[in-house]
Amino acid sequence: MKVVKGDITKFRAEAIVNAANKYLEHGGGVAYAIAKAAAGDVYEYIRISKEEMKKQIGRDYIEHGEVVVTPPLRLAENGVKYVIHTVGPYCGGKWDEDKKNKLKLAILGALKKADELGVKTIAFPAISAGIYGCPLEEVVKTFKEVVDEFIKRSKSIKEVFLVLYSEEDYSKAIKALGGNDNE
Ligand code: APR
Repeated sequence: MKVVKGDITKFRAEAIVNAANKYLEHGGGVAYAIAKAAAGDVYEYIRISKEEMKKQIGRDYIEHGEVVVTPPLRLAENGVKYVIHTVGPYCGGKWDEDKKNKLKLAILGALKKADELGVKTIAFPAISAGIYGCPLEEVVKTFKEVVDEFIKRSKSIKEVFLVLYSEEDYSKAIKALGGNDNE
């Protein structure tokens, strides 16, 4: 897993993952930024997401581990082929095994779907580490665990990027991984 600093809406990867909520209402944070960058009109991307959720899941919400794939629209200019929406746990500052397991499911769901789709490169934001209030260090460590394990048996995925938006989060992430992330 490679930890990088940047804006995921500018990132070049075949799949980018969205830290969504269960209804795919992309109202804030990275979800809003992705919807805006992809469609211009955020409501249009919410409409597309909900339509795809009905088709792909058969419900109007997703559980942890379930994912919905939407087209990249304008993000195709960055080489993006798929946007994969997944939902992490709400922490509100707390962290325990249950939150960790839900985050693992969210990460793994996106990795599995991308692998099925034949994606070689995938970029994640720090799921749940923003509005959902999970401790960034724990989120980053969980990512590392899940990705290191998954990559051993992935069919198509070659590179996984964790994209941190702020300098501060990037420094925290590198520290959390013991200063040696990029393997
Ligand atoms: N690129 C990369 N990372 C970003 C960007 C960006 N353009 N914008 C924000 N982030 C980072 C935040 O700094 C945070 O570390 O993404 C991480 C996840 O933050 P949130 O977007 O708040 O996601 P989350 O904590 O999972 O909360 C999900 O927020 O946006 C809503 O619809 C979403 O209700 C859901 C909730």
